[in-house]
Amino acid sequence: MTILVAYYSKTGNTKFAAEKIAGFLHAELCEIWDKKNRKGIWGFINGSLDARREKITEIEASQSAENYELVIAGSPVWFGKMAPATRTFLLQNDSSSRKVAFFLTSGSSDSEKAMGNMKKSVDESFHIKEIEGLTVSKALEQKEETTEQIEEWCKKLQALL
Ligand SMILES: Cc1cc2nc3c(=O)[nH]c(=O)nc-3n(C[C@H](O)[C@H](O)[C@H](O)COP(=O)(O)O)c2cc1C
Repeated sequence: MTILVAYYSKTGNTKFAAEKIAGFLHAELCEIWDKKNRKGIWGFINGSLDARREKITEIEASQSAENYELVIAGSPVWFGKMAPATRTFLLQNDSSSRKVAFFLTSGSSDSEKAMGNMKKSVDESFHIKEIEGLTVSKALEQKEETTEQIEEWCKKLQALL
């Protein structure tokens, strides 16, 4: 199965998780960039508000999801939701010819609501329903635990493919 791990990452946590997932699953990586300025305090405030309001943004991505049978989409949690760049990527890359799985990185351990919200952005018929989305907190601060958690999740996912 051809797998693409598509992620947006502002400060490296989601990138770290994405690279681990791609490594375990022998998948390709796709980085998504948000063309809106997300730097500084205003970047933080506007980013949070845009995420909260489920806004889309202008993005660039290192590749499209077109040739993949499974997309594993990743995002940081922003104000309890996924970041606008990942939301935009999912919207722009119609899932009707592929399956989708999800992962989030956050600053706290409470990402369940954000995961529920992320999943809602893609029609349920394209989800891999037998597995929960992966949620990782403080990925770069806890690299070893994160790597173990990701490996476990990837094994479960692989068994379903
Ligand atoms: C704009 C913004 C809003 C955030 N909101 C939340 C939040 O609501 N809950 C949370 O646990 N972490 C929140 N965080 C922390 C990030 O989710 C966390 O650090 C994440 O792993 C960052 O991923 P990245 O390094 O790939 O950008 C927020 C960070 C930013 C920049």
